[in-house]
Amino acid sequence: MHALLFLLALSPSVHAGDTAPGFSPDPREAKALAKARTDGVDVQVALPRRAEALQAGAATYASRCTVCHGAESEGDGTAAVALHPAPADFTDVARWDATSSGLKRWIIANGIAGTGMAPMGLSGEQATDVLAYIEVNFAQH
Ligand code: HEC
Repeated sequence: MHALLFLLALSPSVHAGDTAPGFSPDPREAKALAKARTDGVDVQVALPRRAEALQAGAATYASRCTVCHGAESEGDGTAAVALHPAPADFTDVARWDATSSGLKRWIIANGIAGTGMAPMGLSGEQATDVLAYIEVNFAQH
């Protein structure tokens, strides 16, 4: 009984990392993204629609992104439960559109400091292809 009360008393701190969707408590993230914006990466880059590019993007997504962002890109991959903030839900089109394709490509290369989004080590083309795949299949307008 005492052990149970102890656990109950602890549980609020266990969940202290929980945040509202879209809110990140880490100022390093805002700083890194602000720097990226002033570095001139915050531009729209064309995303390919060729079948080979979308197939390459699908393969990259399955092997490198699904674990966090989820098979249907709803931010619910198997690792998502441990991550605060949670992985982005790419079916949230308002969020998808709020970040330019150039900045999303920068995020894939550089990650977002203080979050589970690590630098992914992809080439520029691989990053562009995976963004095209996500946009065509999940971030549908
Ligand atoms: C280890 C987990 C993890 C993996 C693997 C991962 N991501 Fe993320 N990703 C995250 C998290 C967590 C965030 C949310 C960060 C935040 O809210 O600030 C994120 C955010 C993003 C964003 C920014 C979305 C936005 O505009 O808010 C993009 C773009 C992105 N990820 C693309 C990818 C792509 C593409 C891959 C695969 C090549 C990938 N991520 C792999 C965890 C991951």
